[in-house]
Amino acid sequence: MIEEKDYKARIETYLPKALQVPGSMPQTLLEAMTYSLMAGGKRVRPVLTLAVADMLEDKASSKPEVLDLSAAVEMIHTYSLIHDDLPAMDNDVLRRGKATNHMVFGEAMAILAGDALLTRAFELMGRHYNEDNYPAGQKLRAWAVLSRCAGASGMVGGQALDIESEKNESTLDEIIELQTLKTARLIQAGIVGVAELLGASDKIMGSLEDFGLYLGQAFQIQDDILDVVAEESQLGKSTGKDQDHNKGTFVTLLGLNGAKEKLTQVWQKLDLSLEQLREEGLETAFLEAYVDLLRQRTY
Ligand code: IPE
Ligand code: IPE
Ligand code: MG
Ligand code: MG
Ligand code: MG
Repeated sequence: MIEEKDYKARIETYLPKALQVPGSMPQTLLEAMTYSLMAGGKRVRPVLTLAVADMLEDKASSKPEVLDLSAAVEMIHTYSLIHDDLPAMDNDVLRRGKATNHMVFGEAMAILAGDALLTRAFELMGRHYNEDNYPAGQKLRAWAVLSRCAGASGMVGGQALDIESEKNESTLDEIIELQTLKTARLIQAGIVGVAELLGASDKIMGSLEDFGLYLGQAFQIQDDILDVVAEESQLGKSTGKDQDHNKGTFVTLLGLNGAKEKLTQVWQKLDLSLEQLREEGLETAFLEAYVDLLRQRTY
C-alpha cells in the first residue's frame, strides 16, 4: 500500500515545479512564494487529494490534472497562512518553524506572495484544457468546488468570521460555522474536488463531503487544543495566541476538557463517514490509517 510519506515526497517534489510559470516573474516575489510554500507543513490537504484519487481510480494520483489539483489546494492553503499571520490578522512571527513571510519579506511582499499563490492555483487548474484524461465538464466542476471552498462562502468567509469573533463572545454554533468555513472547506476542496474531476457518483460525493467536513472540524478543534497544550518548538508556530486575541474557539468557550469531549464526538461522526465509504465498496485502508495518524498529531 502507498504510505503517507510516499504521497508527501511526491508533493514536495512536485510543488516547486508547479510554481514555475511560463514567462518571467519578479525574483523577490518568487522567493517569497517559495519561502512559505516549501517551508514544510504536514501537506494534509494534498495528501488527502492524492489518496482519494487512488481510492476512486487506480493510479489516478499520477495524472497531471490530479497532481495540479493537489498542488493548487496546498498553494491556496499556504496563501491563507501567509495572510493569517499578517499584523492586521493574527500578527504571528513564527510559521512552519520559520519566521513568518512578512517578517522576512515585509508586509507588502507577503500580501503579494499570497495573492500570487492563490492566482497560480487557478492557473494550474486551467492548464489542462487541451488534455483528455477527463471530460471538460468534470474539470470545470472540480474548478468550481475549489473556488467555492476557497472564497467568501469558504475559507475567506471563515477567516472573516474568525476576525469578528475577537470582538464578541461567540456561541457554540457560531464557532462551529466559523471553523467549518475557515478550515473544513479547504480540506473538503481537495477531497470533493478530485471526486468531481474523476466523475464519482453523487452518493460517493456525499460521503466524501461528510468525511472532509468532519475531518476538517476535528482538525481545527485539535489546532485550538494544540494552541494551549503544545510546545512552540514542536508546533512550529506560536502558542497561546487564541486566548491573547480573544478568539472564538472550542477551548476559549468550553475549556480544554470541554473541547476534548467535542472532539471525541466529531471523531465518531468521522468514523461513520468512513463506514459509509466502505459500504459503497471503496477501499478505505489508507484513509483509516491516515485518520489515525492525524488523531495522534502533536503539531
Ligand atoms: C494550520 O493548518 C491552519 C489550520 C487550518 C488549522 P495546518 O496544521 O495544516 O498547517 P501546515 O500546513 O501543517 O503548516
Ligand atoms: C487559521 O486558523 C485557518 C486558516 C484559514 C489559515 P488559525 O489562525 O487558528 O491557524 P494557525 O493556528 O495560525 O495555524
Ligand atoms: Mg487565524
Ligand atoms: Mg493564526
Ligand atoms: Mg490556531
